[in-house]
Amino acid sequence: MKIHVSVSQQRIKMNRIPMSIILLLTMLLSCTSGGKEEQKKLITSPDGNIEVAFWLENGKPFYATNYKDRPVIAKSALGFILSDNDVLADHLFIHDQQMNEINEVWEQPWGQQKVVKNHCNESTFVLTEKEGKKRTFMLIFRVFNDGIGFRYVIPEQENLHEFTIMDELTEFAMTADHQAWWIPAYQDNRYEYLFKRSYISSLDTVHTPLTIETSGGLVLSIHEAALVNYGSMTLASTGNHVLKCDLTPWSDGTKVKGQTSMSTPWRTIQIAEKAGDLVTSTLILNLNEPNKLEDMSFVEPFKYLGIWWGMHIGKFTFWEGENHGATTERSKSYIDYCNKLGIKHLLIEGWNIGWTPQWYENKMHVFSFTQSTPDFDFDEVIQYAKSHNVKIIGYHETGSNIENYMAQIDAGMGMYHDAGIESVKIGQVGSRMNMNEWHHGQFGVNYYQTVLDKAAGYKLSVNFHEPIKPTGLCRTYPHLMSGEGGRGQEYNAWSEGNPPEHDVILPFTRLLGGPMDFTPGIFKITGTRVHTTLAKQLALYLTIYSPIQMLADLPENYESHPAFQFLSDVPVNWDTTIVINAQIGDYYTVARKDIASDDWYLGSITDENSRDFAIDLSFLEAGRSYMAHIYADGEDAGYDINPESYAIREQEVNKLSRLNIHLAKGGGQAIRFATK
Ligand code: NOJ
Repeated sequence: MKIHVSVSQQRIKMNRIPMSIILLLTMLLSCTSGGKEEQKKLITSPDGNIEVAFWLENGKPFYATNYKDRPVIAKSALGFILSDNDVLADHLFIHDQQMNEINEVWEQPWGQQKVVKNHCNESTFVLTEKEGKKRTFMLIFRVFNDGIGFRYVIPEQENLHEFTIMDELTEFAMTADHQAWWIPAYQDNRYEYLFKRSYISSLDTVHTPLTIETSGGLVLSIHEAALVNYGSMTLASTGNHVLKCDLTPWSDGTKVKGQTSMSTPWRTIQIAEKAGDLVTSTLILNLNEPNKLEDMSFVEPFKYLGIWWGMHIGKFTFWEGENHGATTERSKSYIDYCNKLGIKHLLIEGWNIGWTPQWYENKMHVFSFTQSTPDFDFDEVIQYAKSHNVKIIGYHETGSNIENYMAQIDAGMGMYHDAGIESVKIGQVGSRMNMNEWHHGQFGVNYYQTVLDKAAGYKLSVNFHEPIKPTGLCRTYPHLMSGEGGRGQEYNAWSEGNPPEHDVILPFTRLLGGPMDFTPGIFKITGTRVHTTLAKQLALYLTIYSPIQMLADLPENYESHPAFQFLSDVPVNWDTTIVINAQIGDYYTVARKDIASDDWYLGSITDENSRDFAIDLSFLEAGRSYMAHIYADGEDAGYDINPESYAIREQEVNKLSRLNIHLAKGGGQAIRFATK
């Protein structure tokens, strides 16, 4: 039998531990019950706090997890059901086991922190059927100090080639009926729902990351890493506090069309004592492959203006007519605004043929990706932008008509590349791709990967709207710079709006997967459904991480506005991130150090309640003095009354200082600590 183990190439140091020692250890640590349960194999985190047990019971695989000797995940099933009810999880024996330690440090081209430590213990179990076809698959566990990851590998072998996965049996059995923060799966608006908090027993099927507050005071997040050529995992509550992997199906009901050799995404469980530790965990990134992009010349973090908010608030239209947003004239005036405001990038949406007033309906819309409307001269706008030193961000709205997009993608991306464009926002509005496939099934996963690969060829960085959820693939493909995948600012333009608590839930749920193009920065709030204060809009640049950040408001609302100074200063790429305080759904304060200077920035936000904090500034460098430029809520501010009331003041501080900050109802505070 030919067995290829396709494990990640991430490891730098692989310490092979002799089998004799493993056997001795497992004998010492094993427990048995009535002869049916085989010896438990234990894998511990480098600091010894997390312990994963893996074992076979009547030939079926199971795992469980402890944190500081307390159970976190109870006995949970593993394995697959293939087509024709063919169970690949039975009559197994452990054919081989290998253990490694991975201990490396790597650097991100952009991110919440520059240097990332990847330290874990890894165990690979090779499982083979004792009878019948004697098929083999592996389970690889990696146990970090901040959680665990495990994946299946189905290697090349004699009796298994092409197969269809009908179900993945992976379970996450909770030890009690904990509370979870969730959004529903299998809904027409993809991931764009408000998070709810309720008991696991009350859940139906939900998306990941699923964040859980245990009755024992821990915070867990169940998600997946490196989602490639597979259906994305949703979680179904199946009773007894068990969450079971529910793979998003194809329209024919099958889950994954596979062939050997195949690796599944990593199933991940982040374990933290404080919610803030989930934010700074690098487990998801560490479980992705290193950077595969050879040319990084076009990958750069940036802030951008857009011909965008105007369409969402109904001032302009995406389609041709007297209020058309993307005209040549308006594009030039927005380029002038970029110059006036010192912003180097401009997004222009709705410049092409195919937009209609019904563009958002679930239909096979036919957009052109090369032909502009008569009132938009592509070449003239590109020339004007170049001569004014502004970079245009391309826009492709597919309307989820993937057939139409795939037929034009080379022409569309090629045209951008030839015009010197280096980044593109790509939208997939619609309930199903091609009107029949889920965005988050294997079809969608492969579609987004194809687009990403194409974009690399045309040297375009990508910002997916209506994306597949982020699973850390930006480590492998750093031109995947941001994405939507949640209820962003646009909902404040045309729905009932996002409630104030939405912003203090996102960092501990959606954002755990990766950056979000939320599009903050609305200054003209009065009379809209933007349920925040102006100071909170500034703080969102700290609390919502993305290496590309839109300054979403109409540019005239920024002109001459004193608070714009903060948007001008705030970086989008960070050396270090420290969570100061956090309570999911209530408040969140984060400090970040700029990658390009010694300046620090702080953002603090609250839900609908006002709050006061005394912030310890011990994160600042010792022996240095800083000028704190403070953008606070005005005394009379609140998200419901006087949301635009703010106050700017300066105060000299150092590492020993404590700063009292007041957040209004639905408010926030943003601070730049400038080195002197
Ligand atoms: C939804 C996107 O999230 C938004 O940013 C975009 O403007 C519209 N679709 C139009 O494509």
